[in-house]
Amino acid sequence: MCYAIPGRVKSVRDKTVLVDYFGEEKKAYNEIDGLSAGDYIYAQGGYVIEKIPAPEAEAILSVWKETFFELQEVDVLLSRVDLEAKGIDPRVGRILDRAANGRKPSKDEVLELLNHEDTGSLTLFFKIANFLRQKNLKNSCCVHGILEISNYCSESCAYCGISSHHRGLSRYRMSPEEIVSAACEAVGKYGFKALVLQSGEDAGYRVEELAGVIRTIKEKTPALIFVSFGEVGIQGLEKLYQAGARGLLMRFETSNPELYGRFHPGAKLETRLEHLRKAYEMGYMIITGGLIGLPGQTRKDLADDISLTRDLRAEMYSFGPFLPHPETPLGEVLPVGETEVLKVLAASRLIDPLEAKILVTTAFETLSSEARRKGLLAGANSVMMNITPVEYRRQYAIYPNRAWENDLIEKQIEETISLLRSLGRAPTDLSVREKSNP
Ligand code: 5AD
Repeated sequence: MCYAIPGRVKSVRDKTVLVDYFGEEKKAYNEIDGLSAGDYIYAQGGYVIEKIPAPEAEAILSVWKETFFELQEVDVLLSRVDLEAKGIDPRVGRILDRAANGRKPSKDEVLELLNHEDTGSLTLFFKIANFLRQKNLKNSCCVHGILEISNYCSESCAYCGISSHHRGLSRYRMSPEEIVSAACEAVGKYGFKALVLQSGEDAGYRVEELAGVIRTIKEKTPALIFVSFGEVGIQGLEKLYQAGARGLLMRFETSNPELYGRFHPGAKLETRLEHLRKAYEMGYMIITGGLIGLPGQTRKDLADDISLTRDLRAEMYSFGPFLPHPETPLGEVLPVGETEVLKVLAASRLIDPLEAKILVTTAFETLSSEARRKGLLAGANSVMMNITPVEYRRQYAIYPNRAWENDLIEKQIEETISLLRSLGRAPTDLSVREKSNP
């Protein structure tokens, strides 16, 4: 099983290498010594993560070569747009027409798109988002594995089912050995190239301990590691980066400071944003975004959330519906519908058409059984699989009945690959973002 296509190094200049993938050239940032033209490598998120022997790479490439171009054909067919479509509101038509021609919508225009309800306009909106994804990023789809290492959390976020509100929840904390072993299995046995390690804000681990875990994983595997342990402080982020973490998954949840204050007692939006900004400066790849459908949240807030994600220079946009958990203060709130989520994904693509990875989140998959297919056809190009040991997964109850809660990783892989194939997508990381040297 393989979630990346090997690339062939064409040239190396300082830390930047030019990589060839079936005739397409991409840049990647290299930290491996002695890499030279002609070598085969795997890249993830714009980083060279591993050099691989030529015979191995050539064997994989020969298998991919046939399917790769077939998949691209399917993708192109599914991404065609009829701009003459009838019954579209003329203002929406104009915004979408310009977006299709490379002009990004303003925030007001995004709001205008989010406010539309009619099926004709929405269908075209989603199609244009899909068209832009195809045109700029081809059929690559990013597949990350997420490992939820602890559900202890000292925070009291009003929406979250593992927050301190949920007194009856039984808590678990994986030992460093368990974490390393699950990560190594995900990479060695299942072929994951990028892993997210996530937990609540758990004082039970010291940052140095987490750094140690990351160091050990990096010694044993070439995986690209994202951390998602909440607000570990700027020094904490530095320690994790030094240990080998290269990505940070941290949502700002909502860009509206008043709403943020309401749902995060004692916390400030600015502190979170400071983490995100400093992390970017340190060289982290950023995955961020927010919740859709918090009580009191407006569509204007959502348009602001999308802009903020872009301003934070997110590598990946992570937006999902808020799903009420009965053991929290927001337990009685009704969740948004599928269309609201699709609109946010599509608008994200319109404002970051060239490079963004846009995730279909597990929360969206929990809200709708069609989330992946519809999301991937509305601008998204990224999915995650849950690699947390099944015995712990249920306890990571940020919201109830999470999608894939009981599914072994083999089943998730099978279903994911089969869906991606049906849409003509290749589980690859061809869409490397050019990194500024950290
Ligand atoms: N519904 C949807 N997403 C949630 N999260 C936490 N609680 C919920 C919920 N009830 C999300 C937050 C957090 C991520 C780890 O989980 O956005 O950043």
